[in-house]
Amino acid sequence: MLINGEHFRSIWHQKNSDSVAIFDQTLLPHELKILELNSLGDVCHAISSMQVRGAPLIGACAAYGMYFALRDDSSPEHERNAAEQLIATRPTAINLRWAVERIRKAISNCNQSEKAETALQEAQAICNEDENICSRIGDFGLELIREINQRKKGATVNILTHCNAGWIATVDWGTALSPIYKAHMAGLSVHVWVDETRPRIQGALTAWELQQAGIPHTFIADNTGGHLMQHGLIDLCIVGTDRTTIQGDVCNKIGTYLKALAAHDNHVPFYVALPTSTIDWTVTDGLKEIPIEERDSFELTHVQGVEPNQQKLCHVRIIPEHSRAANYAFDVTPARLVTGLITEYGIFEASKDGLASIRIAAEKN
Ligand code: MRU
Repeated sequence: MLINGEHFRSIWHQKNSDSVAIFDQTLLPHELKILELNSLGDVCHAISSMQVRGAPLIGACAAYGMYFALRDDSSPEHERNAAEQLIATRPTAINLRWAVERIRKAISNCNQSEKAETALQEAQAICNEDENICSRIGDFGLELIREINQRKKGATVNILTHCNAGWIATVDWGTALSPIYKAHMAGLSVHVWVDETRPRIQGALTAWELQQAGIPHTFIADNTGGHLMQHGLIDLCIVGTDRTTIQGDVCNKIGTYLKALAAHDNHVPFYVALPTSTIDWTVTDGLKEIPIEERDSFELTHVQGVEPNQQKLCHVRIIPEHSRAANYAFDVTPARLVTGLITEYGIFEASKDGLASIRIAAEKN
């Protein structure tokens, strides 16, 4: 997608320096800084500190982490340690494990000298596929937006999204934002309600992306969605997911569940957009089985923003110094609150049957 009119992916391998370039998302949207990752350690730090974030991008970055590890030492022991280190960086988003396992499978029949090169090729394949998959998610989601637009006789479709599930959270296009980009490109009138998404304010990333694409949007405090739905100001919710279970529960950024409840109460369709790499085929009950990441309370007790006079990024404490704060990063939305799952194979029911159909579609491809 575009930054100041120029096309970028969120991650790319640089042949000359044999490094991987990313945008430092801890600084966006205030500062645009490209970081070079050169080692397994750099990748682990980038993922755990959220310099890269968003389930599909975390997966892509972890794949390059495996490449760096194997380039430096292709022994089976180092490979296993690298995989464990990467998987431990963030516990909830399943694309991380998926990508690491995919690299390990790709190199399983290689001799030691071929492993690194094969891992690099596989990491690049993961990135290319992710771009293609997210574009297809957009094509299917576009049809939902078109239907609503036709029902509203061409009037603007108001869509609420939570967190950032845009191109910067994937390799390109995004998941939840991909249908919105496609709708805008198809000439449909859309307006996006952007949830702030405390504490890391991923809504600012969404607002930045939409601004770059020229898509009308309004930034709202996290608790606003229910009120807007009660007043008929939201036609559709689309969010992403970090892990989806085989009964259709979705684990996404903290606060998603409350939006789904409000949507259910107000008969607003609530869709979840995902690449099938976000499905954990080993998990049934999201509430009982998905580990929820708890992050440093500093992220909650302080907000990051631009200091008005000096235009510098700074942190400001917003709660009394000795109060405790708990920073749960994700929550689980049960399948019964999800209208449908928008995948690269089409739109499916969030249910055991729906997930079985996704599996069949995936196996055919
Ligand atoms: O903690 P984050 O910012 O990595 O969480 C990201 C989300 O929750 C996204 O909604 C999810 O990864 C889907 S992104 C395409």
